[in-house]
Amino acid sequence: MISEDVIQRVKEENDIVDVISETVKLKRAGRNYSGLCPFHHEKTPSFSVSVDKQIYKCFGCGEAGNVITFVMKTKNLNFPEAVKLLADRVNIDLELDHDNDNKNNNFEKLYTLNVESARYFFNCLQKDDTAKKYLINRGITEATIRKFGLGYSIDRWDGLIRHLKAKRYTELDMLTAGLVIKSQKGSYYDRFRNRIIFPVFNYKGKVIGFGGRVLDDSKPKYLNSPETSLFKKGINLYGLNFAIKNNNSRMFIIVEGYMDCISLHQHGITNAVASLGTALTMNQAKLMKRYADKVIISYDADSAGQMATLRGLEILKKAGLDVRVLIVPQGKDPDEFIRNNGKEAFLKLIQEALPLIDYRINVLKNELNLSDSDDIVKYAEKTLEMLEELDPLEKEVYIKRLSEETKIRDQALYDIMNNKIQKNVKNSENMNTDNIFGQKLYLEPAYLKAERGLLKLMVNDNNALEYALSTIKKDELIMDSHRKIFDYIVENMQFDENEREKRIESRCDDIDTSKEWVNILETNLVYDEYDYENMIKDFIKGIQKYKFEEAKKELINKIKRYESEGKLEESLKLAHELIEIQKKIGGIQ
Ligand code: CTP
Ligand code: MN
Repeated sequence: MISEDVIQRVKEENDIVDVISETVKLKRAGRNYSGLCPFHHEKTPSFSVSVDKQIYKCFGCGEAGNVITFVMKTKNLNFPEAVKLLADRVNIDLELDHDNDNKNNNFEKLYTLNVESARYFFNCLQKDDTAKKYLINRGITEATIRKFGLGYSIDRWDGLIRHLKAKRYTELDMLTAGLVIKSQKGSYYDRFRNRIIFPVFNYKGKVIGFGGRVLDDSKPKYLNSPETSLFKKGINLYGLNFAIKNNNSRMFIIVEGYMDCISLHQHGITNAVASLGTALTMNQAKLMKRYADKVIISYDADSAGQMATLRGLEILKKAGLDVRVLIVPQGKDPDEFIRNNGKEAFLKLIQEALPLIDYRINVLKNELNLSDSDDIVKYAEKTLEMLEELDPLEKEVYIKRLSEETKIRDQALYDIMNNKIQKNVKNSENMNTDNIFGQKLYLEPAYLKAERGLLKLMVNDNNALEYALSTIKKDELIMDSHRKIFDYIVENMQFDENEREKRIESRCDDIDTSKEWVNILETNLVYDEYDYENMIKDFIKGIQKYKFEEAKKELINKIKRYESEGKLEESLKLAHELIEIQKKIGGIQ
């Protein structure tokens, strides 16, 4: 059994849009994405994916589900297999959770250990004048220290160990959390000593690891937690938990360092995140894509920073983000710049940030000597390559500019470009064609809607649930999946709405149940006055009516058969039954 927490983590880290995009070409439409349904053949898109709800739904064939269901259906896997595949995709170690099958989840234990440590470091900072002064000297305010939970690890080998032992944590726990190091001799000592501590939060604000900076110029400048099951390089961004709050502009600024990020936040640029000196990964880009459409990258202007910028740009662009490059004048880092020049000046830099293509052209130009004719040709060719991906209008603008710079006629530039395109015939992007699951007739019977409506009311409202339980039994429901969901609802009503829905969803571990769960959540109950008793009565009638109709069909078939076999007596008996059923059906309306 995979624990509920792990299932939820797997879902959270596998954005449904990304996963579906791997096989279906999706287009953005407001907060949703749409594309050609992979489950039935169609020419106009009726398949919709919701970023907020993390579900998909086809208005053409009625398929629906979450990211796990999608993988189950498209890859023909069962639930645990699909979870495993998605876990691997984001480096979640399912085994790690398996081995430790105490109910107290392994992750939770690591989280609490981290929080406890962060508190300890925070308190140490408050008691240590030198460390405090270091931050104050760098312009960090008390409020910022609190917001980012900054701390200090004292200059001892066992400061944290002693603290955590007193809280009954074992050294093995501490080792698993990456907080201590085991010496060759087998003794343990604190990883972080005499350093300013930066707790690293995940996007939900949980502490997953730490960074520690020296207070002087000694090396290494930073130490970070090692990889643990919580702290994985390249799948998180520092500051994201803060940056996603009130980010109405759907824009992020990416910087390199802890201090850059913190400093920008302190000066009111609250959409800053930091990649922490490592190259940006696709996972990070996708994580950002959930919350932003545009990112402005502001790395150090040194050449290492520039290379990192270029690589990062490609990844961000691939993830579908609008990318700009912000250049801090005089090679300063964002922290220094905003401290010296203030928020307005930084906002101006944001305004002036270069579109990706201009930045690339600039980098190229700096590498070449444009008074050299060979280099001019190279410059033109490489620039034209970059321009290929632009739309025609943009192309025209850039080609004009290139023509002015290089003194090559723009017609010649167009010719070069068109020749190139002829050569690399592009692959067509018909990703859907080989993924057809056959056509389906999508006609929803009324009982389906009735059962969904009933379950929707039950999960929405405790009173409705109670009333439903007194009026209908689980076994009276027609769909198997609905019976299961009925149970899950009853089992999880003590939780608040959000938690309740999450828990039920993780229980829905087969395609049908998962699909129906999505359909239930998506059911819009139309009512003038909220009157759950009458609504429930109506839904139950809808269900009964269907059952009578089915029984009626069966009777009619039997009667026909008896008649053809000449069994008149039997057929007459059934005719009476038929009348009874007919009456019942009539009574329902
Ligand atoms: N980094 C690291 N290990 C190092 C150096 C850097 O992990 N030895 C990471 C840190 O996350 C750091 C980021 O890379 O924040 C950027 O490095 P750098 O620009 O050197 O540090 P700053 O954050 O600017 O730190 P400061 O301003 O305190 O010098
Ligand atoms: Mn710096």
